[in-house]
Amino acid sequence: MADIILGIESSCDDTSAAVISDGYLLSNVLASQDVHKAYGGVIPELASRAHQINIVPVVSEAIVRAGITPEDITAIAFTRGPGLLGSLLVGTSFAKALALSLGKPLVEVNHLQGHILAGFVKQKDQENRVPQFPYLCLLVSGGNSQIVKVNSPLDFEILGQTIDDAVGEAFDKCSKMMGLGYPGGPIVDRLAAQGDPNRFKFNKPHIPGLDYSFSGIKTSLLYFVRDQMQKDPQFMEKNKEDICASFQKTLIDILMDKLLKAVKMTGITEIAIGGGVSANSGLRNRIVEEGRKRGWNTYLPAFKFTTDNAAMIAIAGYYHYLNGERTSLDVAPVSRMAEMQK
Ligand code: KG4
Repeated sequence: MADIILGIESSCDDTSAAVISDGYLLSNVLASQDVHKAYGGVIPELASRAHQINIVPVVSEAIVRAGITPEDITAIAFTRGPGLLGSLLVGTSFAKALALSLGKPLVEVNHLQGHILAGFVKQKDQENRVPQFPYLCLLVSGGNSQIVKVNSPLDFEILGQTIDDAVGEAFDKCSKMMGLGYPGGPIVDRLAAQGDPNRFKFNKPHIPGLDYSFSGIKTSLLYFVRDQMQKDPQFMEKNKEDICASFQKTLIDILMDKLLKAVKMTGITEIAIGGGVSANSGLRNRIVEEGRKRGWNTYLPAFKFTTDNAAMIAIAGYYHYLNGERTSLDVAPVSRMAEMQK
């Protein structure tokens, strides 16, 4: 009999539920929350309330679209953390209640592990290429920027990570600062495609080892735009494509410098990317281009698996389930990575 996993994701501002059967995707339903757009960032309390409204219809729809009944589910996987505590509480409580009422096992998942394993969700009639272990994953999202050595689906080593802002945060905050809108990543990406990436230069950080820093470039962009606007109030409007292209190129350069260093240090040339920022067209092109030049095998996730989604939680839960791991019904969500045991 197939192992059917229901995945539930509610760590930030997307409510999502997905069903996979022996690793193959049957359904993936996502309700995004537009309520935050007016504020230019996620408001935690509003996110929790929207999750409460969305969770029942989203999970029901995932089960219906998968063509299964709740009784067919083998185990329920849910995001325990890291993320916004109130948001996580909705998904965690719902998963616990469902597991209890159906008499099914519960499996907790680390959200970041979900992003890393997103590429392992198999889809019918597709190539389903996956990296060989060990591989390096550049994990880039709104909350994290990490280089992770993935030894097996359940064994990871973080080789480097941001010491301040995440790269997605840099995209979002700078877009907001420039009055371009939220979320910033897709907006900057779109404008950058029409601009000259070499027109403006922004300072890059000098952080030892494989760690990242993205807060300095934010300040660098802020001062640059402010100074130029004092000279010409139309500067932003006239140059936004070139500013976005130059800014995005700097962020990608920073990411790639450390990734190249990690490849040199480990000798690993199986390279994957994951997380919301892995949707960025500039980054995707650059990874493929460097891979071709340097003989790496590169793996880019399908767009629908880049930002938060429950399919990645279901696949990570599937590996934990196969490993015999079960989560007790008295589990509580955790907001920080350090509090996760796995
Ligand atoms: O993985 P995700 O959905 O949430 C977290 O777990 O953090 O990532 C959201 C981040 C946001 O910062 C958003 O601006 C960024 O991913 N993002 C992008 C693009 N699409 C989403 N950043 C750059 N280019 C994109 N096309």
